[in-house]
Amino acid sequence: MSASGTPIGTSSGKPRILTGDTPTGSLHLGHWVGSVRRRVEIQPSHECYFLLANMHAFTTRTEDSASIRADTIEIVRDYLAMGIDPQQSAIVLQSEVPAIAELTFLFAMLLPFNRVMRNPTLKTEIELKGMGDKFAFGFPLYAVGQTADILAFRAVSVPVGEDQVPHLELTREVARRFNQVFCGVPTDIEDHEHEQHGGVFPVPVADVGRVGRLMGTDGKNKMSKSLNNAIAIADSAKDVQKKVNKIFTGRQSPTEPGDTSNALFQFVECFIPDAARVAELKDRYARGDNIGDGHIKAEVAEAINALLAPMRERRAQFEGPGSDQRIIDIIMDGTRRANRLCEETLLMAKAAAGLKFWPRQLQLG
Ligand code: TRP
Repeated sequence: MSASGTPIGTSSGKPRILTGDTPTGSLHLGHWVGSVRRRVEIQPSHECYFLLANMHAFTTRTEDSASIRADTIEIVRDYLAMGIDPQQSAIVLQSEVPAIAELTFLFAMLLPFNRVMRNPTLKTEIELKGMGDKFAFGFPLYAVGQTADILAFRAVSVPVGEDQVPHLELTREVARRFNQVFCGVPTDIEDHEHEQHGGVFPVPVADVGRVGRLMGTDGKNKMSKSLNNAIAIADSAKDVQKKVNKIFTGRQSPTEPGDTSNALFQFVECFIPDAARVAELKDRYARGDNIGDGHIKAEVAEAINALLAPMRERRAQFEGPGSDQRIIDIIMDGTRRANRLCEETLLMAKAAAGLKFWPRQLQLG
């Protein structure tokens, strides 16, 4: 409860959402269409928290802490460039929200170890990164940590890309289990009624973006910085042109009927705003009506550059000397706001789990 007695989250009268990113370097168009665009759309009508999951970066880059730190700051530049407004939305540094770490330990008790290891997102990551059985104990623990990221904020909805859906399933299981085991919520209660029946945690839903998975410029794999097939938010207009020109389709000539489910047409649909033009391009391409890939690529590059131009301008305001500190000030403010809420959640959870022995007053930030 806040000082006035209303629960913090509902005092704004807006539904509360949380989502986040593991800092891995600069953000790209896949992040924009998969998640960030949606965040920018909903930030006026929702109480938004955007988490910089810097602890998660340690699962695979433990020996690289200096670049994790730099990436954490860099990602905020991209957030601000894309239109996340720190006045409206809180940008939060995970490693400075102690309630998340404490809840992770407690939640780890509610999940069978084998259930965590069955998470397909973890399995794919282990395979893709060739981790074998050499991964750190903290690697699967991050999936439990992600349930705490979400539940610490008692978020009702989590805007994410498709690949995060298994993490949301795990989160929903933790919320249900916690509410059943510690708050006496009966097992036959519908997900959306858990809080009404005394549960500490809402059972959150995944809000998957219209395009869950944007292809990379290789035309084969999901766009990803590490696969070298990404168009970064911070790329110059020239770079965008070059990269779009590389998009692989395998089509030979302008009169060959083209496959409009290829990567190039995913770009057409995502980035050319004029629906009538998109329909026309699709029709001519499918019929092989004398329309070359090069022509379409030029239009796509132009559309992407029109999208990125205002982003480049906003980004420029957060570059140069002193800008790192300004960014740190922004995330310090967001983290303070987060800690007020997450400490409240933690107290509720500890009380429910019989862990409240005396009042706690942590001085944070
Ligand atoms: N695992 C997410 C990713 O790699 C980042 C993340 C961390 C996250 N905590 C979160 C996403 C909580 C949504 C909610 O992209």
